[in-house]
Amino acid sequence: MSFRETVRVLPHRTMRSLFISLSHRRSLARLAVRSPLTRPVVARFVAGETLDAALPAIVALQNAGLRTTVDVLGESVTSPELAAAAVERYLATVAALSARGLDANVSLKLTQMGLEIDRDLCRNNVMRVVEAVETVNGFVRFDMEDHTKTDATLDIWRAAHDRYAQVGVVIQSALRRSSADVDAITAAGGRVRLCKGAYDEPSGVAYRTKQAVDANYARLMERLLLADAHPALATHDPRLIARAIQIVEREGIARDRFEFQMLYGVRRDLQRMLIDRGYRVRIYVPYGMEWYPYFMRRLAERPANVGFMLRAVLHEEARRLRGR
Ligand code: FDA
Repeated sequence: MSFRETVRVLPHRTMRSLFISLSHRRSLARLAVRSPLTRPVVARFVAGETLDAALPAIVALQNAGLRTTVDVLGESVTSPELAAAAVERYLATVAALSARGLDANVSLKLTQMGLEIDRDLCRNNVMRVVEAVETVNGFVRFDMEDHTKTDATLDIWRAAHDRYAQVGVVIQSALRRSSADVDAITAAGGRVRLCKGAYDEPSGVAYRTKQAVDANYARLMERLLLADAHPALATHDPRLIARAIQIVEREGIARDRFEFQMLYGVRRDLQRMLIDRGYRVRIYVPYGMEWYPYFMRRLAERPANVGFMLRAVLHEEARRLRGR
């Protein structure tokens, strides 16, 4: 059976686990990042490898009426020097967005700031980014990684939010604990981005079926909307988006009290449709060299992307051979 056929017949959950486990493989990351074959495929999900390359995409989105949050790709850094370099990239990004009059809204991962090296080091690094964002009246969102990082992420979020209110955090409907976390964050006046969760989590801490994850998303979304907690509803799921619109219309919730969020390159048709209907939509725009784990999670979410990737790689290879 060819690789493509295997991809088609394997259950979604198996494929998802496979790609998420491959996302941790540093040797594959090195190979993929060096290969010219991966470039055109990655470009669908990643705005560029440098800030200069990504800026036109950010400007184009904002000109089209979409909002953006910029993610400087990187995670699980293994040395204080790499964490410090990540901080510098964020400071440069915030400065560049602000200098161009663009929305200074960024998203970051705590393992990129050194969470797995030392918690205090991470907190100090995060605070440097928060201070820079505060200086330009921007917004910073802490992405949520796998469940072993949830407590630390929420602790550091609390400290950052005490200092500057425009710091938000992400909650994953896949996790069983999320209902309590949503209540605690909302009580503290914090802003939640609600997503389903992109990691392969054990059943002790997470719902393992799509049905259960979606049902929890619907419950938490309704609670956040009714609490007037300025939620960011991060999903491309048309059923959940329709449910959100139903709640908002039923309750007469104003359109500036929440926003939809989607990933760069995913469901551009839905992004446009929501904008045309007058909703706020923010696009998560990643850029940087360290795109491999992010990209693998996008493959894990939608097995059809693997076919898309294989077609593009074969197309590139054929072009290369023709050009010989
Ligand atoms: P679902 O996976 O059910 O997909 C619904 C439909 O959306 C699919 O049928 C398909 O049409 C489309 N779709 C979804 N993913 C696609 C893809 N990769 N390529 C093409 N089409 C796709 N996760 C996390 O753990 N921590 C975080 O901090 C964040 N942050 C974040 C920010 C933003 C703005 C978004 C939109 C998402 C995240 N996520 C995340 C990822 C999130 O947890 C989840 O893995 C993906 O959004 C996919 O789930 P959906 O809600 O889109 O539903």
